[in-house]
Amino acid sequence: MTTFEDISKEIDANTDLFIGRLREAVEIPSVSADVAHRKEVVRMINWTRSLMEQLGVLCELKPNGTQTLHDGTELELPPILFGQLGNDPNKKTLLVYGHLDVQPAEKSDGWNTEPFQLVEKDGKLFGRGSTDDKGPVLAWINAIETMQKLNVTIPVNLKFVFEGMEESGSEGLDECLKANRDFLKGVDFTCISDNYWLGRTKPCLTYGLRGVSYYTVEVSGVAQDLHSGVYGGTIYEPMNDLVWIMSQLTELDGKIKIPGLDKLVAPVTEEEKKNYEGIDFNHEEFRNDVKAHKLTRDTKHEVLMNRWRFPALSLHGIEGAFSGPGAKTVIPSKVIGKFSIRTVPNMEPKDVDVLVLKYLNDLWQQRGSPNKFRPIALQGGRCWVANHDHPNFEAGKRAIKKVFGVDPDLTREGGSIPVTLTFQELTGQNVMLLPIGSCNDMAHSQNEKIDVINYINGTKVLAAYLLELA
Ligand code: BES
Ligand code: MN
Ligand code: MN
Repeated sequence: MTTFEDISKEIDANTDLFIGRLREAVEIPSVSADVAHRKEVVRMINWTRSLMEQLGVLCELKPNGTQTLHDGTELELPPILFGQLGNDPNKKTLLVYGHLDVQPAEKSDGWNTEPFQLVEKDGKLFGRGSTDDKGPVLAWINAIETMQKLNVTIPVNLKFVFEGMEESGSEGLDECLKANRDFLKGVDFTCISDNYWLGRTKPCLTYGLRGVSYYTVEVSGVAQDLHSGVYGGTIYEPMNDLVWIMSQLTELDGKIKIPGLDKLVAPVTEEEKKNYEGIDFNHEEFRNDVKAHKLTRDTKHEVLMNRWRFPALSLHGIEGAFSGPGAKTVIPSKVIGKFSIRTVPNMEPKDVDVLVLKYLNDLWQQRGSPNKFRPIALQGGRCWVANHDHPNFEAGKRAIKKVFGVDPDLTREGGSIPVTLTFQELTGQNVMLLPIGSCNDMAHSQNEKIDVINYINGTKVLAAYLLELA
């Protein structure tokens, strides 16, 4: 009889094959945010589809409608990859979600290696998407392949939803899932591997994510960019208006100045506070990892709560502003400021939008500028919290114990995966996040990586979880 030990050994023995697979995936620059890369996203989806078909997964590409670009043109969204493996009525059914698109990356952003080539160095696999989320998606495929090779019966039916627009707010996905409700029928559990361990060595299971509401603020004043020597002092400058507005959004320590926003946040209970005390987290290491001079909070549980449990507002950029090197004496004619708010229970996106837009309009009144002002709420994502006192999490815990010999911490995350709550609502069943990457993988950043050991042990954990779910 094949034991988990055998599966584990087989996974180890196939390390090179699995790394080669990740190499191929990283080499497809499936950047969803850049419309010029749209065909690469589609290529990545087709590449994954053929891999899954080799495992006998019944695949279907669901069309996902179109996206309206800033200039009003319509662009086709990449299809969503649905898959099914097994439909035994006596087995439970697990739904697996992941995303095949990645964040943009350029070597000139400060990467040490080419972002769309997988480079192995000191046990680390560098490349865009290595940890977010191509590595984890492939870990599912590797796990299933290994079990099949060893003739191990997978004790659950599997359904898959892999999309290509997650990094752009999962555009179209909620609608597509609602239109294909039948596909989600009979799902008993959902598992998503698209987040990270809290530290570097101890695995965790995750039961909460923040949502994100994204805003743009456009200020325009004149027909074209102007020479500041000729026009400076005579016109009302859009950039000055915008920078003033953007400076009114938070206090020094990050406290959000939007009236009424804090009243939407669910109060913290005493019981909840206790959960934070037991978690293995070193906030000094967290600070030092990114070389921050000081954190906005100075106790472990406050730092964690500010990451997971309270909203945060971040400024992201100003389109149209001069940002190249050197001194250019230009007055930009039109600028678009961008910021987002990470949201938590019970902040409903539509309520947040009302408060944010009201505050922005009030600020504009106060500013009294004659320029043109246009604040916009873009599509965001909802926050999610699950009950972790559930057989799905119990199976996850046993799987981690099997591979790592420890009990995982139960964590939340500050980041967002927009579709998570949708799965919970549409299936009416438990959703769990099972991360395999480490806290210092640097998703979205320069030199994103996944450690070989995390990729391989992650593959083992997913195999163990499939066995434990039955
Ligand atoms: N994998 C992340 C989600 C994540 C980030 C989980 C950090 C845990 C910690 C995902 O790919 C992501 O980046 N999501 C976006 C969603 C947004 C574009 C709607 C995010 O959080 O910014
Ligand atoms: Mn991700
Ligand atoms: Mn991401």
